[in-house]
Amino acid sequence: MVKKFLLMATLIMSGMFAEDAYERHCVPCHAPLPTSLQRMFMNHLLVYGGEHNFKAALKHYLRYPSKDISVMSDLFIDNFGIKEKSTLSDEELDEAIDIYWSKFKVFNKLK
Ligand code: HEC
Repeated sequence: MVKKFLLMATLIMSGMFAEDAYERHCVPCHAPLPTSLQRMFMNHLLVYGGEHNFKAALKHYLRYPSKDISVMSDLFIDNFGIKEKSTLSDEELDEAIDIYWSKFKVFNKLK
């Protein structure tokens, strides 16, 4: 019984630590949205171009989301609204955005 509990606890803990900043801070809120994070990556990249701009603009957007600068369609925003302001620290945002970038940049040869 105790052994089983310990095994479960270990599994759950290792699962928690295995998640990276992107999976912790971005995926849960995006999961229910109909537009995938990959599609949003493309939209954002089309507007903001290469790596440096992409990251800087996204960091700014996550902190100060607004309808005027969102790359999402009016239809999407009417239905799902503008995201909430991020309260993550500089480091957490940078880390999550770096992972986001490396995850999807392979799908784009635009850079
Ligand atoms: C609290 C929920 C929430 C969290 C947390 C969140 N997002 Fe979003 N995100 C949204 C919603 C809703 C939209 C679409 C509406 C909008 O553009 O504001 C969006 C839009 C975006 C866009 C399009 C940006 C643009 O220029 O319009 C990108 C790219 C994105 N998210 C990536 C991320 C990444 C990467 C993270 C983690 C660092 C993250 N999101 C965290 C809810 C969230």
